[in-house]
Amino acid sequence: MSLTLGIETSCDETSVAVVEDGRRILSNLIHSQVELHRDFGGVVPELAARDHLERLPELLDLALEGAGVKPADIDLIAVTRGPGLAGCLLVGVGVGEGLSSAWSTPLTGVNHLWGHIYAAMLTRPDLEPPLLGLVVSGAHSDLVRMPGHGRFEVIGRTRDDAAGEAFDKAARMLGLGYPGGPALDRLARTGDAGRQPLPQPSLPGLEYSFSGLKTALLYRLRDLGDRVTDRDRADLAASFERSVVESLLEKLDTALNEVPYVEVVVSGGVAANTLLRKRAAEVVGDRARLTMPPLALCTDNAAMIAAAGFLTSPLAGEVGPARRARPGGGEPLPITVDPSLGW
Ligand code: KG4
Ligand code: ZN
Repeated sequence: MSLTLGIETSCDETSVAVVEDGRRILSNLIHSQVELHRDFGGVVPELAARDHLERLPELLDLALEGAGVKPADIDLIAVTRGPGLAGCLLVGVGVGEGLSSAWSTPLTGVNHLWGHIYAAMLTRPDLEPPLLGLVVSGAHSDLVRMPGHGRFEVIGRTRDDAAGEAFDKAARMLGLGYPGGPALDRLARTGDAGRQPLPQPSLPGLEYSFSGLKTALLYRLRDLGDRVTDRDRADLAASFERSVVESLLEKLDTALNEVPYVEVVVSGGVAANTLLRKRAAEVVGDRARLTMPPLALCTDNAAMIAAAGFLTSPLAGEVGPARRARPGGGEPLPITVDPSLGW
């Protein structure tokens, strides 16, 4: 049995988790900064970074306590090194390095995008690559093939806005404020997509684009002007949601037809969306086994970082150096933060 401590601070959630063998969550504490940023209508990077630093010590204590373990029991520390907000990532990595040095425990830097896929491994203990993945978050709408642990091939991405970004902007236009995605989801449940149809983006191949749809919503709201009713807004939310969801799934469907997979994973913050969850199951059908993590594992959390760190580290017999020894010395090298890290 091996225990991994995960640390996630890439954006506006501070999270610390303890995961056993990369598969079983012993504790996963998440502090959302929603209240901190609400008045600003979006994430303020400086405030976010400072809040991560203030929250981490208590979350660390609670995560260890919740898992019933001591620092000496931890075999690996896994911390998000990118992509994300630079200042926020530096806080997590700095704390990870401090703990690694104080506890003499190996430290590994984790790609946040990989984490979203590994959230599915926590959901189904028997899930293994190869798999087809769709990661939909605030900054990404990526279709990836995963032939093995720690190996990814991007086969589709967005030309402009990510799905989560599109939801957040649409929510703002509809007067829903921050955080937009969940609010738009709730409003869409009361609307009728058929009454205010919006175009469904369609690009050739496996590329996404959501900026045209966003503009269509803007013009529709402009045309309605002061006459816009609550019902119109609910209908538009439903229609916008339908266009984004069907576009996301159209490409997943194409990719699955091109190369069949037994396992399909849909994850990331937008995978918390009610319609996406329902429609993804219908579109994948019995062609593959679909795994969509529960809501708390779709949005940012440290358990997925611990899982990704462990399952791609030498401790699990896989690729990727957990402890990057300096030439001639036993000290681990610092983890390099990369705000624009890709797959
Ligand atoms: O993965 P995530 O928590 O953070 C990033 O790595 O970006 O994703 C956050 C995104 C936000 O854009 C948020 O609006 C969206 O996920 N989101 C949703 C829902 N819950 C979160 N979008 C649509 N429906 C939801 N229920
Ligand atoms: Zn994320």
